[in-house]
Amino acid sequence: MSSESASNTGSIQAAQSNLTWVPKASEIAIEGGKRLREFLAQGVETEYKGDVDLVTIADRTVEKLIRTRLGEIFPEHGVYGEEGTRDRMEGEFRWYVDPLDGTTNFAHGFPHFCVSMGLEQRPAHLKPEEDGTLVAGVVYDPMRDEIFTAERGKGAHFNGRPIHVSAIPELAETLLATGFPSRKRHNSPNVHFYQEFTLRSHGVRRAGSAALDLAYVAAGRLDAFWEFNLNPWDTAAGILLVEEAGGSVTDFSGNPYRLDSREILASNGRIQKELVALFEDLFAGRNLAPIPTPQEAAAARRKARSS
Ligand code: IPD
Ligand code: CA
Ligand code: CA
Repeated sequence: MSSESASNTGSIQAAQSNLTWVPKASEIAIEGGKRLREFLAQGVETEYKGDVDLVTIADRTVEKLIRTRLGEIFPEHGVYGEEGTRDRMEGEFRWYVDPLDGTTNFAHGFPHFCVSMGLEQRPAHLKPEEDGTLVAGVVYDPMRDEIFTAERGKGAHFNGRPIHVSAIPELAETLLATGFPSRKRHNSPNVHFYQEFTLRSHGVRRAGSAALDLAYVAAGRLDAFWEFNLNPWDTAAGILLVEEAGGSVTDFSGNPYRLDSREILASNGRIQKELVALFEDLFAGRNLAPIPTPQEAAAARRKARSS
């Protein structure tokens, strides 16, 4: 992978000359990301959307900026944003926008968050509940100045250079990622899956930005990612990145992913079957890793101290 930065536009522009939407969308995402950096530097007040779901002025301001820019550049395109934007929903094209994916990180000054913009093409005959085709995606990390981009059929790129998923063939050798909802956490079974996957892999990261997790799978920095209950603004761009980088995206049963699937399993493709089989086992309560009893754990601690 290149160490070139996203703002070094010369080489990136050259690499984007055959692309339709990514060049302008990248400019918008980089502008949005710059605003996020400024907000982070100046410090922002945090509000609660629900009991633990955070939102800041940065989320709202950057959504407004992206909405305005998309309206100027692609006046026919719809915009569906996390902070409430619902513009031109009847059009052929629709952007799913998360102006700040990783708000909890941002609010705590943990420098891992991004702008995510995914474009869906929806032919006129589609019913509202049917998915169109994802045709473009941009994920921009303003703290590292890294941009991940894709257009359908034209590959995935990192700062203008082609990227591919990893070649790791089995779960035991993987680095994974997942996430947990901020709302209704007690209803999420994911902590059990977290335990099982941690025991069966090199580790599971919970870095706090689903869009970056997906971009990292595309770039081969992670081998797979799963999460329950994400929204299209979290996933639209990242799905296309993973697919265009040669990976697979399905639900936990291995069925084709839909934007309203509420469960996502993305990987380098080579381990997708193994992951789906493990999900099936875990949902059925089969082959769970045994947890040591308190006595066994105490004996193991004593042994470790004496050796
Ligand atoms: C969240 C992040 C996080 C994921 C949560 C999302 P937000 O998005 O993507 O990684 O675990 O489920 O809600 O709220 O920071 O835009
Ligand atoms: Ca999000
Ligand atoms: Ca968000």
